[in-house]
Amino acid sequence: MTASLPSAHAPVGIFDSGLGGLSVLRHIHAQLPHEHLLYFADSGFAPYGDKPEPIVIERVLTVAQYLLGQGAKALVVACNTATVAAVRELRERHPGMPIVGVEPGLKPAAALSKSGKVGVLATERTLRGAKFLALRDQIHRDSGAEFLLQPCIGLVDMIETGDLDSEAMRAMLARYVWPLIDHGADTLVLGCTHYPLVRDAIERVLAAYGAPGVALVDTGDAVARQLARLLAADALLRADDGTNDAALTGYTTAGAATLTTAFNSLLGIDPTVREVDLPLPAGWLSSPHI
Ligand code: DGL
Repeated sequence: MTASLPSAHAPVGIFDSGLGGLSVLRHIHAQLPHEHLLYFADSGFAPYGDKPEPIVIERVLTVAQYLLGQGAKALVVACNTATVAAVRELRERHPGMPIVGVEPGLKPAAALSKSGKVGVLATERTLRGAKFLALRDQIHRDSGAEFLLQPCIGLVDMIETGDLDSEAMRAMLARYVWPLIDHGADTLVLGCTHYPLVRDAIERVLAAYGAPGVALVDTGDAVARQLARLLAADALLRADDGTNDAALTGYTTAGAATLTTAFNSLLGIDPTVREVDLPLPAGWLSSPHI
């Protein structure tokens, strides 16, 4: 029996540990308005950034398998942490499938920086990942830019609660951002897809520190362009048939209300959201710490 070929009418599966991937989804939605989209928020298992790498890898493979079971023709790993940990395994497991990952935008940041010092805000897991460190070393060799790495422990958890600009949020951001400015950074990489959701708060915190001109770099737009390229190369782009019927369905491993509210407040849309139960990674219950 031959496996059936994916059709251009099939949806694109996009996933993240939680709400952060919505910062990527909005670019995909804008650039590819005719695509059916599935968005999976693993909020019930977030954050990924403080979990051991083998656990993150297993979880990513499970989420991807779920989206493929829903008929996805391509996958977008809208999470830096998941990409750094698991995109290689994902590609090995699904050869031939268009898979787009997210990487911190070190190269565009190095090109933008005048001081040659770039702050990188990301999860601990991303900043420790071999794939990220290899990228950092390569861009440093090519550009001479110095990267100041700042793990933002607790930030994803706070964003997952829906807090995008409280006093507590700004205090946490100041703790992470101001020392980078003190060390000469004039450009900051938002190396976690959750962080563009608090971009306004970061800008306020920078302005309050007398550093309003600091450039913020995220890669959501580039990810959407790469997805479009891969779909076009495999003749998987869904054409405009004049019906404007492209559908978006949300899936979450936490309560549906949180994802529904996020779709509403961040993207101004109100798609169907389904709650999903996935089996926990085998090693998680026996070794829950990093
Ligand atoms: N949005 C994820 C990322 O880009 C957050 C990871 C986490 O859950 O800690 O890294």
